[in-house]
Amino acid sequence: MKILLTGANGQVGFELQRSLACLAEVIATDRNGLDLSSNQATQSCIAEHKPDLIINAAAYTAVDKAESEHDLAMQINAVAPTVMAEEAHKLNIPLIHYSTDYVFNGQNSQPWLEDDKVEPINVYGETKLLGEQGIASKNAAHLIFRTSWVYGQRGNNFLLTMKRLGVERESLSVVDDQIGAPTWSRHIADATAQIIAQAIVSGNVTEFFKANSGIYNLSGGGQTSWHGFTQAIFSQLQLQGEKVAELNAIPTSAYPTPAQRPLYSCLNNDKLADTFAISLPNWQQSLTLAMQ
Ligand SMILES: NC(=O)c1ccc[n+]([C@@H]2O[C@H](COP(=O)([O-])OP(=O)(O)OC[C@H]3O[C@@H](n4cnc5c(N)ncnc54)[C@H](OP(=O)(O)O)[C@@H]3O)[C@@H](O)[C@H]2O)c1
Repeated sequence: MKILLTGANGQVGFELQRSLACLAEVIATDRNGLDLSSNQATQSCIAEHKPDLIINAAAYTAVDKAESEHDLAMQINAVAPTVMAEEAHKLNIPLIHYSTDYVFNGQNSQPWLEDDKVEPINVYGETKLLGEQGIASKNAAHLIFRTSWVYGQRGNNFLLTMKRLGVERESLSVVDDQIGAPTWSRHIADATAQIIAQAIVSGNVTEFFKANSGIYNLSGGGQTSWHGFTQAIFSQLQLQGEKVAELNAIPTSAYPTPAQRPLYSCLNNDKLADTFAISLPNWQQSLTLAMQ
């Protein structure tokens, strides 16, 4: 089996290279190998490699910058995945893609279901939603995994920022009124690989994806605020013998950013568990593992 992977140097993409290694031949492309700002490059790359499955782990993920780079975010998050789905349909192969909790407006008090009303409140969320819709419109077999608050040991993420600031600063203020679920990039990749393994064992990969096509929430278990996440990171740092900054809780209104964030973005992961018998551990358990 041959898998074409985009975004190979990203948080999820890099972990996918690890998780997929025992399952398939992986053609791992980064921005230099395949620049998704060119639809022609995307089409040629797929035609050249003739993969059995495409996994799109690339995305424009700079949430604040997207507010002023609408067209680029739209190209990478909406147009390019739609082109991939079109090519996948032509070749009769499946596409795996990742989306976000930011497709929701945050006005909820219980975890969002896959078919709850979508209403993004920032450009990033809007472009990711258009990517989901573009893929669905092309009738290729596809799985779209909506995840949230992704962190890992590489790239730009909240864990690495807080590890750095926690030991550099005397004190730190972090918002405590945005609620969501931190998700370790490694667990997203492992879950993806296990689902692909199920498809291989089924005997017909494309039919397996066709039968299960659609959107699935895939996020860490439980919920917390950015402040709660920071507290847990600091506790781990202290266990490792570090002296950490004093931590203060502030409301979102005290930390203005170019892009508005949803206040409540926890995802209900039951559909993933019911369909594939896969659920990610509680976010605290994953964080402990990741930091160890
Ligand atoms: N990060 C989060 O908190 C979060 C939350 C919810 C959902 N998600 C979704 O989860 C998926 C994986 O996210 P992630 O956190 O792994 O993202 P990431 O670490 O930012 O990685 C994204 C990758 O996409 C690549 N990329 C960007 N523009 C490209 C282009 N024009 N051509 C080719 N590659 C390009 C980047 O390459 P460079 O390294 O060269 O820039 C980067 O390696 C994405 O679909 C994202 O929307 C992420």
